[in-house]
Amino acid sequence: SSSATRNAAIKHITVIGGGLMGSGIAQVAASTGHTVVLVDQAEDILKKSAKGIEDSLKRIAKKKFADKPEAGAAFIQKTMKNLTTSTDAASVVHSTDLVLEAIVENMQVKHELFKTLDKFAPEHTVFASNTSSLSITEIANSTTRQDRFGGLHFFNPVPLMKLVEVIQTPMTSQKTFDALLDFSKALGKYPVSCKDTPGFIVNRLLVPYMVEAIRLHERGHGSKEDIDLAMKLGAGYPMGPFELLDYVGLDTSKFIIDGWHKMDPDNPLFAPSPMLNKLVEEGKLGKKTGEGFYKYK
Ligand code: NAI
Repeated sequence: SSSATRNAAIKHITVIGGGLMGSGIAQVAASTGHTVVLVDQAEDILKKSAKGIEDSLKRIAKKKFADKPEAGAAFIQKTMKNLTTSTDAASVVHSTDLVLEAIVENMQVKHELFKTLDKFAPEHTVFASNTSSLSITEIANSTTRQDRFGGLHFFNPVPLMKLVEVIQTPMTSQKTFDALLDFSKALGKYPVSCKDTPGFIVNRLLVPYMVEAIRLHERGHGSKEDIDLAMKLGAGYPMGPFELLDYVGLDTSKFIIDGWHKMDPDNPLFAPSPMLNKLVEEGKLGKKTGEGFYKYK
C-alpha cells in the first residue's frame, strides 16, 4: 500500500523489561536510529542491561568496523545516545509511538502493566507484546486499544536473529499491523505475518519437535549425541534438539508444552515428557544452570 495511507513511522519506542529479550530489542532499535526508553523495575537491573548492551555493541563494532575503529566508536556512541532508561513506565510513555513489552511471562502481570499504560499513553501509541506463549488477544483485552495492539515476537539473541513474527489478532487494525511490519523492517529484521495461535509459527513447530526428540531418546531409540549429530548433519540444523533445549532452557520448554497440553490434552505432540519433567525438578535447566541434557564446564 502507498506510504501516504500508512501510519507515521514508529520512531520513538518504549521497551518494558530490561532482561534478555528487552535489552536485545532496545539495542537493535537504538542502533537503527530509533529513540528508545528502556524500562525495568529497579535501577540496578537497568545498569546491568545498559552494560550488557554496550558490551554487545562493542563486539558488533569490532566485527563490523574491523578496519575503522573510529567508525566503530562512533556507532557505539550514537547508539547509546539514542537509549535512556527509566523505572517508571507511566511517566515515559507520553510521547512514545510504540510500547513493546518484554516482561515476565505472566498474564496477570502483563494485564496490570498494559491496563496502567493504556491510561497514560497517547491515542496513537501502538502496544505490542513479545510473549512466546500467551494469547495476544487476551493480553490486549486489558486495554481499550485492541485495534492498536499486536504481537512482535523476537528471537534470542535479538541482535543476531533476523526473524520477527508479527502477530495480528482479530482486533488488530490493518494500519497497526502495517506499522508493526514496517517497524520490524526498519530494525533490519525479516518479519513474517502470523495469526494469534499458540506458538505462532516457529515455536509451534519447534517445541513439539524438541519434545519428540526427548521421546525418541526415552524409548531408547537413540543417544542424545547421535540424535543431535543426525539433525545437524542430516537436516542441516545448526544445533541438535538437545543442544537447543539446553540453550532455550528446559523450564521454558516445559512451561510451553504444559500450557498447550492443558489446552489440548488429546494432542499426543503436547503430552508431557517424564525425562523433561525430572530434569526441571532437579533444577537442571540447561546452559544457564550449568547442566541440562548436557553438562557445561
Ligand atoms: P527476563 O527474565 O530475562 O527479563 C524480564 C525482565 O522484566 C526482568 O528484568 C524483570 O525485572 C522485568 N520485569 C518484570 N516485571 C516487570 C514490570 N511489571 N515492569 C517492568 N519490568 C518488569 O525474561 P526474557 O527472557 O527477556 O523474556 C521476556 C518476555 O519475552 C517473555 O514474555 C517471554 O515469553 C518472551 N520471549 C522470550 C524469549 C527467550 O528466548 N527468552 C524469546 C522470545 C520471547
